[in-house]
Amino acid sequence: MAPAAEAELIAGLPADFRWGVATSAYQIEGATGEDGRGQSIWDTYCRVPGMVEGGENGDVACDHYHRMPADVELIRSLGVDTYRFSVAWPRVQPGGRGPANAAGLGFYDRLVDELLGKGVDPWVTLYHWDLPQELEDAGGWPERDTAHRFADYAMLVFDALSDRVRTWTTLNEPWCSAMLGYYEGRQAPGRRDFAAAMAAVHHLLLGHGLAAGRMRAAAPAPVELGITLNMGTSMPATESLADREAARRADGLGARIYLDPLLRGQYPGDILDDLSVRGVKLPVVDGDLAVISEPIDVLGVNYYSSHRLSGVDAQGRTEDDEGNPVQTTVPLGRPVTAMDWEIVPEGFTELLVRLSRDYPGVPMVITENGAAFDDVADAGGYVRDDDRTAYLSSHIAAVAAARQRGADVRGYFAWSLMDNFEWSYGYAKRFGLVHVDYETQVRTPKQSALWYRDTIRRVRGH
Ligand code: NOJ
Repeated sequence: MAPAAEAELIAGLPADFRWGVATSAYQIEGATGEDGRGQSIWDTYCRVPGMVEGGENGDVACDHYHRMPADVELIRSLGVDTYRFSVAWPRVQPGGRGPANAAGLGFYDRLVDELLGKGVDPWVTLYHWDLPQELEDAGGWPERDTAHRFADYAMLVFDALSDRVRTWTTLNEPWCSAMLGYYEGRQAPGRRDFAAAMAAVHHLLLGHGLAAGRMRAAAPAPVELGITLNMGTSMPATESLADREAARRADGLGARIYLDPLLRGQYPGDILDDLSVRGVKLPVVDGDLAVISEPIDVLGVNYYSSHRLSGVDAQGRTEDDEGNPVQTTVPLGRPVTAMDWEIVPEGFTELLVRLSRDYPGVPMVITENGAAFDDVADAGGYVRDDDRTAYLSSHIAAVAAARQRGADVRGYFAWSLMDNFEWSYGYAKRFGLVHVDYETQVRTPKQSALWYRDTIRRVRGH
């Protein structure tokens, strides 16, 4: 789409559309040994040789823990109305259970006050991947008890902050926690066990439901509760049965295995059938689905890319060595970001329209969207990131296009406020609207940040 057409679509967003920037605790805070914080699975994982590019870790990150007031001022200067951040479970409960660690909780208490003092709404994510190591040692998310531990932790944070925080996301991207953490081993805790990953899916959802139910019951005033899922559009490479099946399976394990229990109170039958062929059964106990389908007020959507899938591999096989169906990605031939992720804004529109059609009645907010590029900063730290600016423009326009087609999307948050620790990719991949010089911790808004600020102003009409 031409930039002018994008600008016109974006200008049509309503004046009360929510605009934000997002971060997560382990990616920005640093100070991993301070104020009684315990160890998380990411502290451990980063120390396993070969797991994180360059052997990097979040010990210092953006040093946000020590620079929080200045960072809040930076957020305010961007003109956003919302800041989505996560609370580090091991700061609040160093070992994952028991009473709150007041010093750890105190940081978020001050952050919330600082935000409100600057007219920015806090949006809290309770779990952005930093499980206390002691809970992983006891089995982690594949264990049912972890769901109960999560709900207890959620209530400690909720009791401390719900007098000032209205919007709560239980989990960020449970697909990553389960599939990358327990099946592919590409994220903490680095396990490779499909059945364990599927048990993790169920216990993550159960933890969400238990926490959401207890928060709703305890809320002192109306709250907005939700969960954030990462999704894209899965397209078959051809109309062949094998390719259509590959797309169905990718969408099933990537999206519907979360959406259906959350919003329809049942797991998708086709996926349960696929699992049983693989000898895997979800550890569902009577009553779990009622807990998981506790109504939510907002569905958080994280979008980065879409995929075209084939059920046939390079050797023409439809099954791999273990007898599992093949699923290969066939590039669409689009330009890619520094993550090698194809840039597919129309897949974003398709996803949002499809969600609103298949799961009506739940307002959506884009809790993350953005891109890493190989930024080049000038001597003053300024980055003229035409590529990121274009990415944001095309994707915000894609959201506006989805709204025109009936999708109930109420807001958009850019990932990320600033460059930060990109998990197993370390610090080399930069997603920030604001450049971070990791030697000096100097923050410099990039061109994309200034474009974002001006765009928000224009849409608001002042
Ligand atoms: C989604 C995750 O929530 C976030 O932590 C990560 O940095 C971005 N995607 C980019 O990969």
